[in-house]
Amino acid sequence: MKRIIIINGPNLNLLGKREPEIYGSNSFEDFFDKLKVKHNDIQLEYFQSNIEGELINKLHEVGFEYDGIILNAAAYTHTSVGIGDAVKGIETPVVEVHISNIHAREEFRHTSFIAPNAKGVIFGFGLQGYELAIESFL
Ligand code: DQA
Repeated sequence: MKRIIIINGPNLNLLGKREPEIYGSNSFEDFFDKLKVKHNDIQLEYFQSNIEGELINKLHEVGFEYDGIILNAAAYTHTSVGIGDAVKGIETPVVEVHISNIHAREEFRHTSFIAPNAKGVIFGFGLQGYELAIESFL
């Protein structure tokens, strides 16, 4: 059975409550429950942290064991050399996901420290982006 993990970064624990006009009104937990039912033929896990180092620790922990990592590092995408280096240093392929179209937003969101070492990047499709990322690993 394939092992895939979704790792969400800062403020994504507020999905559903936070800027719903950009990020939608569903909580990630509800969405994830449905994803698990739909993809019951894979081992799907979810981790969220608002702390940069915890995201790096999780990438190290799963990055030599799992078949795929779906990473929405949120604001750290645009700032974190450390997360970028972690993605570069692990073996498991990483698909970078963003709920919003980061290229239609402020200039500072157009930069990603993750993208150069990601298998691919999906953005602008709302929560469906996570499903597209899962499909890319199947
Ligand atoms: C985000 C886009 C980031 O620029 C932002 O900081 C987020 C969420 C997205 O999923 O659209 O927190 O990663």
